[in-house]
Amino acid sequence: PTPSIPVIAIDGPTASGKGTVAQRVAARLGFHYLDSGALYRLTALSALRKGIDLGAEHALAKLAAALPCSFQGEHILLGQEDVTAAIRAEEVGNAASQIAILTPVRKALYGLQLGCRKAPGLVADGRDMGTVIFPHARLKVFLTASAEARAERRYKQLIDKGFSASMDDLLKDLQARDARDSQREVAPLKPAEGANVLDTSDMTADQAVEQVLSWFAVIKN
Ligand code: DC
Repeated sequence: PTPSIPVIAIDGPTASGKGTVAQRVAARLGFHYLDSGALYRLTALSALRKGIDLGAEHALAKLAAALPCSFQGEHILLGQEDVTAAIRAEEVGNAASQIAILTPVRKALYGLQLGCRKAPGLVADGRDMGTVIFPHARLKVFLTASAEARAERRYKQLIDKGFSASMDDLLKDLQARDARDSQREVAPLKPAEGANVLDTSDMTADQAVEQVLSWFAVIKN
């Protein structure tokens, strides 16, 4: 990949809406989309299934480096199996957050992420897209929202999918994950240098998409 291929890095905490916003921005621009969290979730799911200890950094790194995953449109495959829904389970998200603190795991996933930078451009969504993986991204966005707004969004998603959920539990879970993601030593969650911070607590996803697109339009020229 040549350095001229533009990257839009969109980072932010769990349930901030960055997945939805990043996917819509990518679709509008005709860019590729990288869901980096899915890579941590795939590694975690694979580890849980194989019974690998979530602290066994070298075994986990080996697993991450040889992850047989592929992305087919909206579908995520592990080997031949469609795990699109399986990797979204809360248990898998929590395990992903635990293994994401391990440097060897992060290193093992580094090349895979860089390889996603393909013409005509990439929208990369995660925690360290602007800080570590694509520090020279054309545009860096830090998407956030209050913990309450995020818990409410997650609650609605779960109820819509027919799951039961408790706002209290969701809020606690989310705060615990935020703390783990932002206080870890490697690649902690924080706005990248030069990032545009967007608080979406009182915004729809489409309004956030328009904001990101208009920032990109200004920079592009
Ligand atoms: O965005 P997500 O909820 O799918 O991410 C799952 C976990 O993976 C999250 O708790 C932190 C970790 N993660 C990370 O450390 N770095 C990334 N670039 C993306 C996700």
